[in-house]
Amino acid sequence: MDRIGQAAAFDAIGDRYDEAFPHKEGQIASGAWLAEQLPAGSHILDLGCGTGLPTARQLVEAGHQVTGIDLSPGMVKLAEANVPDAEFRRMDIYEVERYELGPFDGVAAYFSLLMLPRAEIPYALRMLHQQLREGAPMAMSMVEADVDDFTLPFLGNTIRVSGYLRDELRQVVHEGGFEIAGEDAYAYAPASTDVPPEIQLFLQCRRRP
Ligand SMILES: C[S@@+](CC[C@H](N)C(=O)[O-])C[C@H]1O[C@@H](n2cnc3c(N)ncnc32)[C@H](O)[C@@H]1O
Repeated sequence: MDRIGQAAAFDAIGDRYDEAFPHKEGQIASGAWLAEQLPAGSHILDLGCGTGLPTARQLVEAGHQVTGIDLSPGMVKLAEANVPDAEFRRMDIYEVERYELGPFDGVAAYFSLLMLPRAEIPYALRMLHQQLREGAPMAMSMVEADVDDFTLPFLGNTIRVSGYLRDELRQVVHEGGFEIAGEDAYAYAPASTDVPPEIQLFLQCRRRP
């Protein structure tokens, strides 16, 4: 899949992303769950970390060691400025394995797997499974939508997104090697008019054997 358009869109969006999504109660509650699952000093991967807010900062403030990766150089730069105590790398989701950044004690994957075409999501979950020990926590979120590599106008740019209805999402995550320990759904109307209202699904997962 061509990644250039996705990275360029997020470079152009920059910190307007946080302005469009100012209410992050769901993500913060989910991040608190992840932080509490692990002893202080644990190494957590923030997959598709964006600006580093709120998640990388929240995990660092909880005492963890965070490595954030993102495809967009602009996002990595913002994250480095926002969370100087975490480490950030410009990297595709698939390069985590190749550059041997892990293993990790936990993973945060908020609204990042949805940036992949559906055909790639099971592979990405399997990669995350390999980066974690049995029982390790993974917190993730997706937007509930029955779409595959769907072109979406977003903050004056065009991005491509994929999603599932929740039963199918549960199945994909299970088959990717994770059990689902908890789940929350939030109806969310972003602050920007060109971003449609959405249902955000947060899953609290554990790596299966
Ligand atoms: C919707 S934003 C979510 C950002 C952040 N996780 C949050 O919840 O605030 C998706 C992020 O994933 C990044 N991204 C898109 N495709 C990616 C890929 N293939 N590998 C790594 N990051 C990617 C984008 O640059 C963007 O920063």
